[in-house]
Amino acid sequence: MRTIGVLTSGGDAPGMNAAVRAVVRYGIYHNLNIIGIKAGYKGLIENTMEDMTLSSVADIIHRGGTILGTARCEEFKDDEGFKKALNNIKYRGIEGIIVIGGDGSFRGAQQLSRAGISAVGIPGTIDNDLPYTEYTLGFYTALNTVLESVGKIRDTSSSHGRTNVIEVMGRNCGDIALYSGLAGGAELVVVPEEQFDMQEICEKIMQGRARGKRHSIVILAEGAGNAKELSEQIENITGITTKYSVLGYIQRGGTPTAYDRILGSKMGAKAVEVLMSGKSSRVIGIRGGSIFDMDIEEALLTEKEFDKESYELTKILSI
Ligand code: ADP
Ligand code: F6P
Repeated sequence: MRTIGVLTSGGDAPGMNAAVRAVVRYGIYHNLNIIGIKAGYKGLIENTMEDMTLSSVADIIHRGGTILGTARCEEFKDDEGFKKALNNIKYRGIEGIIVIGGDGSFRGAQQLSRAGISAVGIPGTIDNDLPYTEYTLGFYTALNTVLESVGKIRDTSSSHGRTNVIEVMGRNCGDIALYSGLAGGAELVVVPEEQFDMQEICEKIMQGRARGKRHSIVILAEGAGNAKELSEQIENITGITTKYSVLGYIQRGGTPTAYDRILGSKMGAKAVEVLMSGKSSRVIGIRGGSIFDMDIEEALLTEKEFDKESYELTKILSI
C-alpha cells in the first residue's frame, strides 16, 4: 500500500476534520502518499483531488464541517458514474480509500470494495444511526449544540408558562432526541423507535402544570413527526400555548467536542493501519471504549438496538 485516498461524504459532522488530519499525518508518518478527494464521491467522478501534505491539515482539528467538502452524489450510484470513479482511482494510483460518512457513504465504500478497491469506512454522522458502533463522529457535538438550545428555550418556556416543542435531526434514528431529552431534562421525548400516545403526552403536560411546573419541553425526532403539527395538537388538547422550533442545520456545525476530536484522531489512525495491514472492506467503530475494525458487509447488516432503558429513564426522571 503506497497511496491512500480519503474523502468525506453525506452530511458533514464535527470531528470529520480531526479524522482527515489523522489519516493524512498518520499516513505520511508511515511514508504513504495521501490524496484528498474533494466533495465525497463527486470528487472521484470529477477527478477533483489533491496531494495532501502535513500542512494541508494544519489548523483544522478544532473546526466543524470538513475541509475536503462533502456531497450527496446520486451519479455515483449509476453504472456510468461508478465507472468514471473507478477509472479516476486507477489513474491516480489510489490503492486504498478511506470513506468518512454515514450509512449511505458506507454503501458506496461497499461497492468500491466489491469492485476490488480496498476501502475502509470511518463513521461520521451526527445521527448516530450506524448500529455496529456505539458512537459516530459528530454525535456528541450535535448533542451539546441541541442542549444549548434546549436550555435557552426552557428559559422562555418557563417565563411564559408555555409548552415548547423542539424538533431535532437524526433522520430515522431517535438518538439525538433521546439523549438530548435525557441530558436536557425534557418533559417528553418523541422518537421513531417508540409509539407515542398523544393523550398520554398531553396528560403528562397537564399534570406538570397542576403541580406548578412552568415549562414543558417536548423533544421531537425529525423521523417521528412534524413539530408544527405536534404543537398544534398539544395546544388543542391541553389549552396551553404551545410553540415550536426546528433546530435544523445548527446541529451539524460548530467546533467538535473533545470526545469527537479524540474519536476522529483515533479512528483516522486506525483506518490507515487497517489498510497498511492489507485488510480491505472494513469499517472502524468504538465499543466499550475500544476502537475496532470489522467487515463492512457484516456491519451494514447489524440492526440498531434502541436504548429502551434510557428512554424509560427519561420518562421517569421528567415526571
Ligand atoms: P450518509 O453517508 O450521511 O448516510 P447519504 O445517504 O446521502 O449520506 O449517502 C452519501 C453518498 O453515498 C450518496 O450521495 C451516494 O453518493 C453514496 N451512496 C449512498 N447509497 C449508496 C449505494 N447504495 N450505493 C453506492 N453509493 C451510495
Ligand atoms: O445525516 C445527517 C442529517 O443532518 C440528518 O439528520 C438530516 O435528516 C439530513 O442529514 C439532512 O440532509 P441534507 O443536508 O441533505 O438536507
